[in-house]
Amino acid sequence: MTIYNFGSINIDHSYRVGHFPGPGETLAASSYAFGLGGKGANQSAAAAKAGAKVHHIGAVGPDGLWTLDQLSGWGVDISQVARTGIPTGHAIITIDAAAENTIVIFPGANRAVPAGLLEKALAGARPGDTLLFQNETDWQAEVANLAQERGLYTVYSAAPFDVTAVEAVLGHIDLLVLNAVEAEQLAAALAAPLDGLGVPEVLVTRGDQGAEWRCRDGRRVLAPAHKIAAVVDTTGAGDTFLGYFVAARDQGLDTQAALGRAAVAASLKVARPGTADAIPTAAEVDEFLDQ
Ligand code: RIB
Repeated sequence: MTIYNFGSINIDHSYRVGHFPGPGETLAASSYAFGLGGKGANQSAAAAKAGAKVHHIGAVGPDGLWTLDQLSGWGVDISQVARTGIPTGHAIITIDAAAENTIVIFPGANRAVPAGLLEKALAGARPGDTLLFQNETDWQAEVANLAQERGLYTVYSAAPFDVTAVEAVLGHIDLLVLNAVEAEQLAAALAAPLDGLGVPEVLVTRGDQGAEWRCRDGRRVLAPAHKIAAVVDTTGAGDTFLGYFVAARDQGLDTQAALGRAAVAASLKVARPGTADAIPTAAEVDEFLDQ
């Protein structure tokens, strides 16, 4: 089947710092790198590297055409990415000595997806296909509605967290994906436990504490994280997890096996610097599992 991913494409500027700058503080970075990122693009890269058929839907500007070559090189169909005159989205990322990060995004072209693109891009989608989307674009409610109408398995990652965006799609999705912070933010904002949201499935990723999948029928599956001796950069680990999880589900794996592959892929990612570039291939995940 096909995974349609409506999502952001960013140019990531990553700065390594001893500590995160405080208010009014100027800090020199010890290193700088740039590369492809964006929660959407990272998830497309992960799902494609995992072996899934992926169509990315989004927008870039004239400065971001190279990002499409890169996605395409990993097998992602980029025919439904609009080429706009607006600068490509970008992210300013600081990574501290503990490999944690802070991220500021400038949405740019991600919020300039032309009206009509979604309908066109999903015209060939069929029941059994998957629709993935996040919060770094516009049109969340519209894409969720279209996906529901077409009978797609609809997966929504509520990142960056925005309670209004979440509320607008809750009744139209099959799987809600949150990290630990987003899960707390949502439960607090809605004053309701995650189990009471009415969404068929909820997946909460907790970094080195593993991940938990819960189904409305009461089933619950836990996936421990793999211990990584040298964690270098956690940026994009959640995107890697989700891309691999969705790909594995699409390939027919059960939830336990899909979570297992996703956990390995995320562990391999955090041992490397960078975002989309650093997402492991299926062969690397297999090799880890074989050991
Ligand atoms: O999840 C990591 C991503 O968040 C980065 O690649 C950055 O571009 C932001 O979208």
